[in-house]
Amino acid sequence: STSYYKESFRPQFHFSPEKKWMNDPNGLLFYKGTYHLFYQYFPGDIVWGPMHWGHATSKDLIHWKHHKIALFPDKLGLIFSGSAVIDTDNTSGLGSVENPPMIAIFTYHNTEIEKAGKINTQSQGLAYSLDEGETWTKYNGNPIIGNNSLKDFRDPKVFWNSETNLWNLTLVAGDHAQFYTSKNLINWTYVSQFGKNIGAHGGVWECPDLFKLKVENSEEEKWVLLVSINPGAPDGGSGTQYFIGDYDGESFNTNQKDIKWIDYGTDNYAGVTYNNAPNNERIFIGWMSNWLYGRNTPTQKWRSAMTLPRKLSLEKIDNNYVLKSSPIQQLKTIITSDYSKELLSIEANKKIVFEYNHLNQSQIDFKALTKNLKLTFSNEVNDSLVLIYDHKINSFSIDRTHSGLVNFEPNFGKSIHKTSTPNLKTQTLDYQIILDWSSIEIFINGGVYVFTEQIFPNKPYTKLSIQSDENQEIKNLNISKIKGIWETN
Ligand code: FRU
Repeated sequence: STSYYKESFRPQFHFSPEKKWMNDPNGLLFYKGTYHLFYQYFPGDIVWGPMHWGHATSKDLIHWKHHKIALFPDKLGLIFSGSAVIDTDNTSGLGSVENPPMIAIFTYHNTEIEKAGKINTQSQGLAYSLDEGETWTKYNGNPIIGNNSLKDFRDPKVFWNSETNLWNLTLVAGDHAQFYTSKNLINWTYVSQFGKNIGAHGGVWECPDLFKLKVENSEEEKWVLLVSINPGAPDGGSGTQYFIGDYDGESFNTNQKDIKWIDYGTDNYAGVTYNNAPNNERIFIGWMSNWLYGRNTPTQKWRSAMTLPRKLSLEKIDNNYVLKSSPIQQLKTIITSDYSKELLSIEANKKIVFEYNHLNQSQIDFKALTKNLKLTFSNEVNDSLVLIYDHKINSFSIDRTHSGLVNFEPNFGKSIHKTSTPNLKTQTLDYQIILDWSSIEIFINGGVYVFTEQIFPNKPYTKLSIQSDENQEIKNLNISKIKGIWETN
């Protein structure tokens, strides 16, 4: 129907569930030409509740098809976050080599144990599918990794380690990550832990991921460990930190001293990457919300969306490893440029204003001199969202305090988010900004810095003003409409 996916604030080219509550992406797996996206889902309400795994698939990571719920709670507990693999050699014995099982390994959260006043509510369970994720059977020996004593013990990420020829699993236990190995995905051996005295510890560790990346322009390879934490993010609530180091199939080590974040905006949490993505690409999807206010955002039928899928890469800038993320190439297939300009000189303190009806569903990209710059997105009712680059102190700030609806929760519109950006060393800065009704994603220098934020304008933004208190030069400006992905349903 024509009203499908047209409610106010509904993202038009980001994945969101048709209805009800969603949080973390789960079980990201590419198999037989299809990207699977499972996700934390509560079909009963638009707030968090007893968790299921919802399921969607895509051929291009842009257009999505909904499937029926994959995993339901059972007597061992609710189905919390986890991952999925294809057991190609049928090491588990749960399928066959001709039809290898798709295997999901997830956390059970047992509310009976919780009610009995004990803390060891979380254990790891396994389920398998022999029809490419359509229908699932829980393994009859669950849990596969039990828990006697830990309060937080969850979010297993499993992958095949082709260097050691073993299955590897990383999960989190409150203030550290644990590493396990297995020959068959069922029997797991604990091998090491990481993180008690390193990194950010403002909250509980959640949703780890572990993978190897090549360092750009070199032969070097490093391992990346992603760890989401809640609370304790730079602007409050939940956020995702990362560590760059080495991993031998059993233990992870790093010399890293500083705390690094994959995204400096408020709304990118619990993100993990695809297993088996083609061309060895590392594709990341995060939950585009924050536990600080995620349950209160002003939508009615559904709640929250995923970030755009992003390709991860590693760059060494001044001897410092930086994990970059930028929108996947496939996004280009739904972008049509409406306006381009090769060179735009902006005199100090003069404003250039673009009126553009599709601003709320658009991409703005350009290069600007590494000098002060202020971008303001606004509408007829004077809502405004302001992005400032301050060259003197080398920092970006995002002001959403007047961006539209902000009072639905005290923390949402409270402060201006300021980030110092020491890794910007170039003469010009590359801006790629993507708006989709209730979100803005800002990628600077190909994802060296990323800011993802939810916004709820009272009316769609239609005006973009560009200004500076210095003479500025904007090069290769494009203002483009991004097509919706749900139109044909
Ligand atoms: C992260 C998280 C996970 C947990 C899931 C429950 O957002 O708290 O640690 O598995 O959500 O829905």
